[in-house]
Amino acid sequence: MTADLPVRAAGGPSGAVPMTAYRSGALAGSAPVPGDKSISHRAVIFGGVASGETRIRGLLEGEDVLASVEAVRALGASVARQNGQWLVRGTGNGALLEPGHRLDFGNSGTGCRLFMGLVGSYDFTSTFVGDASLSKRPMGRVLDPLRLMGTQVLAEAAGGRLPVTLRGPRVANPIEYRLPVPSAQVKSAVLLAGLNAPGVTTVVEPVMTRDHTERMLTGFGAEVGIETDRDGARRIAVHGQGRLTGQDVTVPADPSSAAFAMVAALIVPGSQVAIPGVLMNPTRTGLIDTLLEMGGDIAVSNRRLSGGEAIADLVVRSSELKSVRVPGARAAAMIDEYPVLAVAAAFADGDTLMEGIGELRVKESDRLAAVASGLRANGVACEEGADWLKVSGRPDGRGHDGPYGGGTVATHLDHRIAMSFLVMGLASPRPVTVDDTAAIATSFPQFVELMRGLGGRLEG
Ligand code: S3P
Repeated sequence: MTADLPVRAAGGPSGAVPMTAYRSGALAGSAPVPGDKSISHRAVIFGGVASGETRIRGLLEGEDVLASVEAVRALGASVARQNGQWLVRGTGNGALLEPGHRLDFGNSGTGCRLFMGLVGSYDFTSTFVGDASLSKRPMGRVLDPLRLMGTQVLAEAAGGRLPVTLRGPRVANPIEYRLPVPSAQVKSAVLLAGLNAPGVTTVVEPVMTRDHTERMLTGFGAEVGIETDRDGARRIAVHGQGRLTGQDVTVPADPSSAAFAMVAALIVPGSQVAIPGVLMNPTRTGLIDTLLEMGGDIAVSNRRLSGGEAIADLVVRSSELKSVRVPGARAAAMIDEYPVLAVAAAFADGDTLMEGIGELRVKESDRLAAVASGLRANGVACEEGADWLKVSGRPDGRGHDGPYGGGTVATHLDHRIAMSFLVMGLASPRPVTVDDTAAIATSFPQFVELMRGLGGRLEG
């Protein structure tokens, strides 16, 4: 691994790194958040399988993406970091090599599932492993379409879990596949497998999910067709075995990381925080739409394009928030933001209802359960259903059982649970402790430093 990268904080005897957030004065300043995680994974993967050189600026140097860097290396690409940029020299489409060791994706569902697709259509054997969180997550959603393409699943743990060993067919079968769950990871896995199949592989998605894969595939020279059928479903077709050519990629700031600074600025009185260059792809802006509906003061300016993606600068000021109903139709556009939205809702006036969020149960943790128990542990009233959450907010941070805070939150190796509840502590009358912050390094290694720089009181 490259020497000057951020490293995970050392934990105590259990390996856990607890932290406590205290009520803070007004947050102020600029919060430059790191590169988008989804785009970073894809830039590394497409660079690794393209011919020639891909130069990546603004790559997220979090553990999840670094696991993808190691995986493309194991498949024959060369990757170097030079002056803060990443140079990937790819193998050329169809020319990945059989890995000489198991591919370890750590905590990363995106890396694991996208690479299963990428190598699943190759006539070689590969084994996928991950940490305790990833090993609990369902992989069947990717293995099912791969089986239809001719991939053999030589080994899997019960319920389609890691470790998984795949063996691709001599020649993969291009398929048309309708997504049974709205998942950009599954869509991307099938399209990536299609890159090495003769003919056209098509994914049909009834609910639109983040579209970075199809955008970037086009940018790297793949022949990609996108149509909307009569029922409103998107059909994304990739022509296999075409040439991919290395590109210059600039990764915009991650809206899913910006979310923590945004919500902190909204709920800590007197705050004003600027966040430059945030990705504004409409498949990712559901949280901003929701916070605006809640009365959040979020100014969006300087809208522009960067590397084929919309970006803008944000200025967020503390606001009196009111409760809303968040429709299930919006879930895909803010799927990673519900934990921090629940924190905003705890400080909004009234009951906020979030519907159609069953997918939260199969993220890095069961996020519905983790959020509900973290809120309750800190005095916030909430109700949890199979696929919904209702949070009863109090703008003054005083629940029925007394002032918010005073509890410890179990983070279950989930970076977004850890960051969300640290944000909660910055606005709560009593401190909020999270049991382990180590997983924050998977997506946002600078989180603690950045929040302290704005004036947040975080003590480890
Ligand atoms: C991602 C897709 C989403 C999201 C994840 C990143 C991606 O997962 O939760 O953090 O980069 O494709 P699903 O595809 O499971 O919805």
